Amino acid sequence: MPATILVGTQWGDEGKGKVTDFVADHMDFVVRYQGGNNAGHTVLAGDQLLKLHLIPSGILYPHITSVIADGVVIDPRILLEEMDTLNARGIGTSRLVISGNAHLIMPYHLELEKVTERYLGKHALGTTKRGIGPAYADRAARIGLRVQDLFDPKIFRQKLDVALKEKNLILTKVYGRLPLEADGIVEDYMEYAGRLEPHVADTSKLLWDALRAGKQVMLEGAQGTLLDLDHGTYPFVTSSSPVAGGALASAGLGPHEVDRVIGVTKAYVTRVGAGPFPTEDTGPDGERMGERGQEFGTTTGRKRRCGWFDAALLRYAARVNGLTEVFLTKLDVLSGIPRVKVCTSYRADGRSFDDFPPHQSLFHKAEPQYDEVDGWAEDLSAARSFDDLPKAARAYVELLAELGGVKVSAVSVGPSREQTLVLA
Ligand code: IMP
Repeated sequence: MPATILVGTQWGDEGKGKVTDFVADHMDFVVRYQGGNNAGHTVLAGDQLLKLHLIPSGILYPHITSVIADGVVIDPRILLEEMDTLNARGIGTSRLVISGNAHLIMPYHLELEKVTERYLGKHALGTTKRGIGPAYADRAARIGLRVQDLFDPKIFRQKLDVALKEKNLILTKVYGRLPLEADGIVEDYMEYAGRLEPHVADTSKLLWDALRAGKQVMLEGAQGTLLDLDHGTYPFVTSSSPVAGGALASAGLGPHEVDRVIGVTKAYVTRVGAGPFPTEDTGPDGERMGERGQEFGTTTGRKRRCGWFDAALLRYAARVNGLTEVFLTKLDVLSGIPRVKVCTSYRADGRSFDDFPPHQSLFHKAEPQYDEVDGWAEDLSAARSFDDLPKAARAYVELLAELGGVKVSAVSVGPSREQTLVLA
């Protein structure tokens, strides 16, 4: 049974949690494949709203095994806190499986990110300050500590001493901070180890076996295509690979295991943190999208920047992820805007680009070229089929599909499952 990849096509916050919820009944495994607790999804557990940052939202469904794959960076303190919160609400976490190859976020990663972002001043990236970048940097530098190291105290201590020697020099000599003590870190992490051990397994093998047994597997990305380390708006990106290819590398599966790549696309665009955003609207329309769409970060509470739909970016996301379809979210938010703009291409340096420009400087000065179409006044939240939508809203969806060059398979008009319109 082939696997499905779910990927954000913008700068994150496209509503991926809603899609997971929508398909949950048919899934056996939901796998988080990159990032760490920089992500956040708000999920409805019974009548309670929960904020999850690290644990896949599949955890809410007792029939689903939730997997944290190799390419994720784990802050064990946060992970255990999330597990405790879920358990306290009566949601079991025994079906959470964690790869022993996943890297650990260490206290010095948090400390270093705080000082480096401050040091960058007006050039700061606006990260979530969860230690994500420093943890991935150590992974690439091969001085990271992994989940499996937690279960070999001698090796853990050795690796920690090597890393800490350098980190403390940087913290004290470069940034004038106090050094961190190894003993306290070892004590905390050995306590985490005891609790995490029953959850740790060879997740690549687990997924391979599951697919062979005909199980349904969904690989769920965090962040989005434009935050991808290679394919995003570098350096204003996260330090992992949200694109579909990243899912396979992280989960330890080959490309033939996947036959469906769903791109989650919001009917407008948002971005948190610094970096270029050609279709940003800082006027009343953008303000309205932010208010109606409740565009505040789940992790940091920051107000998200809002802007018009960017079809050039959708075309790009369709290409780099190999999207087979798009799940369009939050169409209801656009109700009440008389004329709706859609970016079809950019102009920069006197040239026209109908795709993501190949050079960062071009994207920074890209001027969006817009098509303007009729909006709709009606509230869409009660629609239950595509035909229930007003004509202008249907035309808008059709235009996005045409410009993006990818079929729209579902449209969401509200947070609940029933507010999902499936297209033929
Ligand atoms: P980091 O992932 O904390 O290193 O932050 C790098 C960039 O990615 C910043 O612009 C963050 O605001 C952005 N970012 C990280 N996670 C998310 C997310 O889940 N949604 C939207 N933006 C995110």
